[in-house]
Amino acid sequence: MTGPTNPGALLRTLLLLFSLHIPFIAASELKFPPNVNHIFNAIHSSMRQWGSSLHHNGMSFFIATVPKGTQLYHGNNFSEPVNGIEWLAFEPEHAMVFARSRHGPPPPAGKGPQKRSQFPLQLQDKESGQDQNQTGWLHTYTTAKELRLLYIDGMSAAKTENGTLDSQDRILLRDALKGKFGMLERERADMICHMAQEKYKGRLDGVLRMEAGFEIILCDFARDLNEVRVTRVKSEDKAGHPPPGRDTEGNIDGAKLWYKAIAARYNGIGGNRVILEYGKFVTAYAYGLDLFRPSRSNGNSLPRLNHLVADELRPIRNDLDYLILNYDTSRTSYNWQGVADMVVQRYAHELRYLASGRLTLQKLHEEIENSLGPFIDYGDRNTGLEAEECSMQFVPAGAPTDGLARNAIRSVSRSICSTMIEAWKQTDHGAAVAQLRSLMDYLSWTTWKDCNGCADNEICVIPIWPMGTVEDYEHPQCREASRPSGQGRRYWGEHGGPSGSQ
Ligand SMILES: *[C@@H]1O[C@H](CO)[C@@H](O)[C@H](O)[C@H]1NC(C)=O
Ligand SMILES: *[C@@H]1O[C@H](CO)[C@@H](O)[C@H](O)[C@H]1NC(C)=O
Ligand SMILES: *[C@@H]1O[C@H](CO)[C@@H](O)[C@H](O)[C@H]1NC(C)=O
Repeated sequence: MTGPTNPGALLRTLLLLFSLHIPFIAASELKFPPNVNHIFNAIHSSMRQWGSSLHHNGMSFFIATVPKGTQLYHGNNFSEPVNGIEWLAFEPEHAMVFARSRHGPPPPAGKGPQKRSQFPLQLQDKESGQDQNQTGWLHTYTTAKELRLLYIDGMSAAKTENGTLDSQDRILLRDALKGKFGMLERERADMICHMAQEKYKGRLDGVLRMEAGFEIILCDFARDLNEVRVTRVKSEDKAGHPPPGRDTEGNIDGAKLWYKAIAARYNGIGGNRVILEYGKFVTAYAYGLDLFRPSRSNGNSLPRLNHLVADELRPIRNDLDYLILNYDTSRTSYNWQGVADMVVQRYAHELRYLASGRLTLQKLHEEIENSLGPFIDYGDRNTGLEAEECSMQFVPAGAPTDGLARNAIRSVSRSICSTMIEAWKQTDHGAAVAQLRSLMDYLSWTTWKDCNGCADNEICVIPIWPMGTVEDYEHPQCREASRPSGQGRRYWGEHGGPSGSQ
């Protein structure tokens, strides 16, 4: 079955499956089954900097594998080998920010990519010449074995009050940090690694999260990594200033280097560096909870867990424990994200065009008929069957026949296909367009926020903690990569995080 297979999970899964399997006749009230769209989007956005930044409050946990030999990076002030619990970045530019930093107190054991004080936002501040010679070190590693990690989706390494830490702190850590203030990164890392060892019997090597770049909290550097080289990074002064005569205002140089590297991973971490298990995963969306309750009033459509009592979270916590203690390493995971991609790539432009209101009713009907043509038997029309055929288009016969991922993808496909059929039947132009627009609202695909092509020296800027503005979230636009910061109200609040200004 889908998800972890303890009895409670099984029952909930059956209920969810049942709701997804209501026959087409009953589809009127279940045209847009609640939360199934979000499960689809969690699969689609997983391990992608773009979708995970926009849907930054992750509600799901996946078992993740990082193959042996994968290159990873750590930046600090020391050339000595790093031991114990530390942070690792997938992109060297991300790690180098921590080797280059002139700000903030030196952490006890050379911390990795977790300190807010080291972000480009702060690098904008110009300082006196002190510490100019104190550049740090970039440690390059390869994994000594296949790493087994818990992937906490969304922007789960972003230390914000906006919900990015909800799943981690409330589900995984069970409110253990409640009442404490600050970034609490070392606390989180220590707790997670203690749990990995004791509670989870060494079945996790660490966790995988995302901020401005994907990162790993690895519990045992010495055991799990081979150090390839340790290099001194360019001094802040030399690295920090562009050559004379060129772009002398370019003062966000860390960000310049870094943001390009992040944007390169908008559509995926790449290179099979991380393989997620989509067959069994845990998502708060599957428990019938009202995750959007508090946010609706302020117009924010992102989910939260902060308003739920511990009792409501218990089944999710238990299922997460069960997932970690019982995942099967020998099973090859089926790539449901690839199937979700086919759905999005096929319909994203199509739906936006159809819903644009620019087509006459007749043209709209023609377009829809073109799309659905392959699923129509013109000798024997049956719209129920047509919707069914259409919704199965991208699901191969060899795919697993159960699971949350399969059902979410099928359900979302069915919502698309049946809404298109309804719009085709509509004789009222406004009503047809309205149906398509409510479908788009329901789908809430992050691809629709794409800038649709920036120049080579530009990136499509969205808020990635602690950077970004509300306007960047609503209407992302191309900006010069060396000056990604926009004007206006800051997305994450004035201080960018719960610690305020350090
Ligand atoms: C490295 O040392 C400098 C200078 O003492 C300090 O400001 C910075 O925070 C340190 N960086 C890290 C990552 O420890
Ligand atoms: C940096 O190093 C140079 C050359 O070694 C030295 O002349 C200079 O005084 C140093 N600056 C500081 C701030 O320590
Ligand atoms: C994020 O939280 C901060 C601090 O509470 C707040 O000022 C800011 O408006 C929030 N941002 C969003 C997008 O809700």
